[in-house]
Amino acid sequence: MLSITLARSTTQRNLANRTMTTTTTADRLADARAALDAVGQGHLLAQAEGLSDEQRERLLNEVECIDWPEVARLIESHVRQKPAFALSGDVAPAPFYPAKPADDAQAEKYDQARAAGEQLLRDGKVAAFVVAGGQGTRLGWDAPKGTFPASPIREAPLFQLFAEQLLKLHAKYGAVVPWYVMTSPINHAPTVAFFEEHDYFGLSPEDVMLFPQAMMPAIDMQSGKCLLAAPDALALSPNGHGGSLKALYASGAIADMKQRGVTQISYFQVDNPLIDIGDPLFLGLHRLDGAQMSSKSLPKRDAMEKVGNFALVDGKMSVIEYSNMPDELATQTDADGNLEFNAGSIAIHVIAVDFVASLNEGEHGFSLPWNRAEKKVSFFDGAETVDPASPNAVKLETFVFDALPMCERSIVLETVREDEFGPIKNAPGDGVQDSPDTAKQLQVDRAKRWLSHAGVRCDDGSWVEVKPTTAVCADDLEKLDLPARIEATSRVVI
Ligand code: UTP
Repeated sequence: MLSITLARSTTQRNLANRTMTTTTTADRLADARAALDAVGQGHLLAQAEGLSDEQRERLLNEVECIDWPEVARLIESHVRQKPAFALSGDVAPAPFYPAKPADDAQAEKYDQARAAGEQLLRDGKVAAFVVAGGQGTRLGWDAPKGTFPASPIREAPLFQLFAEQLLKLHAKYGAVVPWYVMTSPINHAPTVAFFEEHDYFGLSPEDVMLFPQAMMPAIDMQSGKCLLAAPDALALSPNGHGGSLKALYASGAIADMKQRGVTQISYFQVDNPLIDIGDPLFLGLHRLDGAQMSSKSLPKRDAMEKVGNFALVDGKMSVIEYSNMPDELATQTDADGNLEFNAGSIAIHVIAVDFVASLNEGEHGFSLPWNRAEKKVSFFDGAETVDPASPNAVKLETFVFDALPMCERSIVLETVREDEFGPIKNAPGDGVQDSPDTAKQLQVDRAKRWLSHAGVRCDDGSWVEVKPTTAVCADDLEKLDLPARIEATSRVVI
C-alpha cells in the first residue's frame, strides 16, 4: 500500500506548520485557542485543561485540521440562514451522447472512441478512484460501506467486486489500473484493515492507495456553535464527495498518478456494484473530445425523479440538484412530448489528472459551493452526551459535480440504467428501492442478459452471478466454455 497523508487545506497546513515551530503542548493549545477565539468557537477548548495529555493531544490534532476562518464564513452564510438557491443565467438542456449511436457518423465516432479508450487502458493511462468516505447512514451497516456483502450468490463485498474488475482489466489490456480509495478519518482504519485481511483481493498492494478525506465540524443549528462529540473530540463529519478533488491532491495521489503516467481517473461511488470501471467508449469519447471532466447520465424515470439534472448554465456544463430544479424546467417537454431535461446524473465520471492538478495548483486555490444538510448529531454538552430526537445540527458538504462548470470541455454519455446503475443506499425492506435486494436482482438480471447474448438459455427463476474476473462486459463471455442452459432451480457462479 502506498503512503497515506491526511488531506489538509492550505490554511490547515499553515496552522500545522505553525505547530512545527512551537514545541510544547501549551504553545499548541495557546495557538489553537487564539484561532478558535477569533471565530467565536473558544468553547471547544473550555475543558481542555482538565483532559489527560493524550486526550488533549487528540483534541488539538482535530482542531488543527480545520480551516476555522472558512467555518466562520460558512456559519454566517449556511447555518444562521438557509442559503437561497437562485438559478440564474441561461439554462438549457445539456447535450449528450446517446447510449446507442443516432446515425452512421456517430457509430463511426463510437468505434473510434472505443479504440481510443482501449488504447488508454493498454497504455496504463487509467486509474480507478472510488469515493468511500461517506457515512452510509441510510444503509445502517456498522462498517465501511465497501465491506458490505453485495453480490447475489457469493455475497462478495463491494470492495472485492471492484478489485476483481481491476484484475480483469489488467488481464484484458496487459496494464495495471492502479486503485485510489478515498476513505474518511472515521472509516479509514477499518477500511485499511479490511484490505489487509483480504490480501488486497489479489491486487498488488503497491497499486492500491487509501487516503482519508478532510472533515468539517457539525454546527448547532440554533446557536451557530460547533459541537463536541466528547470532551476530547469534535463532532466531525466528512466534507462531501467534492472533498475528493482536494484530497486526491493533498494525499499525493495525483503526484503518484503522474509518476505512473496515468492521465485519466475513472471516478465512481462505493455503493454501485454494477459500475463499469474501464468502459472504453466513455474513456475514449472523453479523450477524443479533449474533455477535462465527463459524466454518465441516465434517462430520468419521470420528470421529478430525485437525481441531479445535466444542464448548460450560461453555456457551462452543470448539474442542477433536483431540489434546486424549478418544476417548470423539470417538466418542460419538446414538440414530441419528451422531457427537455431528461439526463439524470449518476455520479460516474472520467476526470483528467491534469484538471485536478490545475484546480489545486491555481494561484488562489479553488472552492466548490457548500451545501447545508440538517442532521441529528449526538453531542457532549459539557457534562454528558445528548442524543437529540430531531435534527439539531448542520453538516456542510461539497459535491464533486460542482467542478463541472470549471471545465473548458465536458461531455455526457447516456447509459442504460439496468446495465450500470444499481446503488445500495437503503436498508432492505419490502418495496424499498436502491437496497441490497434490488442491487442483487439487477446483478442477476444483467448476468442473464450477458449469458443469453453468449447463447446460454437462463430459465426464469435461475439465479446467476458472473464474477468480474470472468467478465466485465457481455463480450468477455463469448469465447468461454459455458453451460447451454441454466435451469430454474440453479444457482450458478460463472
Ligand atoms: P451518499 O450521498 O450516498 O452518502 O454518498 P453516504 O454518506 O454514503 O450515505 P448516507 O447519505 O449517509 O446514507 C455517495 C458516495 O459519495 C461518498 C460515499 O461513500 C458514496 O460512495 N462520499 C459521500 C464520500 O466519499 N465522502 C463524503 O463526505 C460523502
